[in-house]
Amino acid sequence: MTIEVDPFQRFEEAQAGGDRDPYPDWAEMRARGPVHEVDLRAEYDLDESIEIDLPPAYVVLSYEGVTQVLRDPGSFSSSFYADTMGAVMGHSILEMDEPEHHHYRGLIQQAFTKKALDRWRDELVRPMVESIVDEIAARGHGDLVRELTFPFPVRVIAGMLGLPAEDLPQFHRWAVELISVGFDFEVGVAASEKLRDYFASVLAPRRTHPEADLISVLAQASLDGQQLDDEQIFAFLRLLLPAGAETTYRSSSNLLFGLLTHTDQLDALRADRSLLPQAIEEGIRWEPPLTAIARWATRPVEIDGVPVTAESLIQVNMGAANRDPKRWERPEEFDILRPPLQHVSFALGPHTCLGMHLARMETTVAMETILDRLPDMRLDPAADDVHIRGRAFRAPASLPVLC
Ligand code: HEM
Repeated sequence: MTIEVDPFQRFEEAQAGGDRDPYPDWAEMRARGPVHEVDLRAEYDLDESIEIDLPPAYVVLSYEGVTQVLRDPGSFSSSFYADTMGAVMGHSILEMDEPEHHHYRGLIQQAFTKKALDRWRDELVRPMVESIVDEIAARGHGDLVRELTFPFPVRVIAGMLGLPAEDLPQFHRWAVELISVGFDFEVGVAASEKLRDYFASVLAPRRTHPEADLISVLAQASLDGQQLDDEQIFAFLRLLLPAGAETTYRSSSNLLFGLLTHTDQLDALRADRSLLPQAIEEGIRWEPPLTAIARWATRPVEIDGVPVTAESLIQVNMGAANRDPKRWERPEEFDILRPPLQHVSFALGPHTCLGMHLARMETTVAMETILDRLPDMRLDPAADDVHIRGRAFRAPASLPVLC
């Protein structure tokens, strides 16, 4: 399989130079206290001359504090995203509060059944991953990020949506442009509009002639006599790209990085495949693809014993919470043999990741295929300084391997 377009290049260049290791700073802050006030002007490097009203803001770093915020949607609202990601996605479940959120999530969840997951695994994910890994095996070397972990989650989503194969290059370009909104707002918004028009042309025929794809299921889904309207479906489909593709690309890359740089653990996994589920969870705990999410405090409240004011921005640092020494021994270490404990990388509470079973399935298939077909896989010794980088989003830029 060849990559017809190269949206990776631009995305990659724009992200280059990211923070190499924010964890020591977070550990130092967490040791001083579970919650800290944040100076947003300094954080976003805004000059004093820029007139802008910034809210009070806090960062939550402890496991206790993060779980408290995520489990209390009454005190901590998701409407923060309406002012940010809402610009490119529309009014999606990500930015809804209860009870609206519960209702629409119930409708959308109808598309993510165990049966649908099994079908996507067998018909979509496995053949796609196998063909990519076979190419790398035949060549004897490759870049697991560029060839496998970056392109495959977007292709899986295109397949789940039932998009025709010939639309994939264009779809992939818009998808990457949409997720580039953090550093290129104009491009993100333009891609959002193009995707809306494109989805409109796909949705209309599926309303009348449903097929076996996710768009048809969303078109037919109903709860308490209500259905999703077109704009609600477009908002969800646009959310799927950053939520489902960028995260899985990064989490599977981070797991592979952990294993390739801890070869004793890769050997242990090769010797005992039953370790795979816990290896996947440890990768997601140790290096979550997305380290922080946000909420508005709706009232004055204490988080892990620290008071925060009403209408303040709460930065929920899942990366720091996942390495809280009050919960994990040697939290900085990647260790697939550690006793599994609930982490917070998929969030908790009502907004718990809707795609976590899909993400785990995709990573399981990718790892099984790699273990089966690249039995001698190792980091290319000629590769220079392979590392994970980034602050809010983290992943290695490349994983060159010999096999
Ligand atoms: C390892 C991979 C993934 C990670 C770490 C992850 C993480 C998260 C997190 C932290 C949230 C909560 C966001 C918030 O409330 O602020 C979330 C929500 C969500 N995720 Fe994932 N995600 C992953 C993969 C996926 C996949 C593959 C899909 C595809 C279906 C997906 C779809 C969603 C959706 C739709 C939401 C919104 C749920 C809601 O607001 O009720 N995610 N994810």
